[in-house]
Amino acid sequence: MLKLGKDTRHKVSFTLNGGPVSGLADARMLLSDFLRQELGETGTHVGCEHGVCGACTVRIEGRAVRSCLTLAVQAEGLEIETVEGLAGEDGALNALQTAFRKHHALQCGYCTSGVLMSLTDLFQRTPSPSRAEIEDVVGGHICRCTGYAGIMAAALEVAGAAGAEK
Ligand code: FES
Ligand code: FES
Repeated sequence: MLKLGKDTRHKVSFTLNGGPVSGLADARMLLSDFLRQELGETGTHVGCEHGVCGACTVRIEGRAVRSCLTLAVQAEGLEIETVEGLAGEDGALNALQTAFRKHHALQCGYCTSGVLMSLTDLFQRTPSPSRAEIEDVVGGHICRCTGYAGIMAAALEVAGAAGAEK
């Protein structure tokens, strides 16, 4: 008779984009895989899986983090933000997303969720960042489509608008 082993997965619960979620994860399951496979939140993309490309970037406790370098069990009890949380409840794009659309800052979109989360992180810490500060953040992401010009134009527009409000 087939003897099934004990389920050794851990229950992981945290706040995702303002709401409670939970699921089961092996001890070494990556947060990126947990988001996509266990929770069905596929807006967070997975590219290199070793911290280089930036596609998997989310925010944990208000800081941009590579979710492919984070274990799901490490997220227990924390606040996680992903690209799914950027638009309003009615689906309206936020200012950064709107600028991305306007400046054609994406083509295939594979890098986009990660870039948006890193720029969101920058704008929350530095509402009106300099070009150099934006370049520093965007430089942490690999985009194989856009040549980065549209991404920079979108981010600079949002930075300029924030500066104009001061
Ligand atoms: S998939 Fe995480 S940095 Fe590339
Ligand atoms: S839009 Fe295709 S990788 Fe950036």
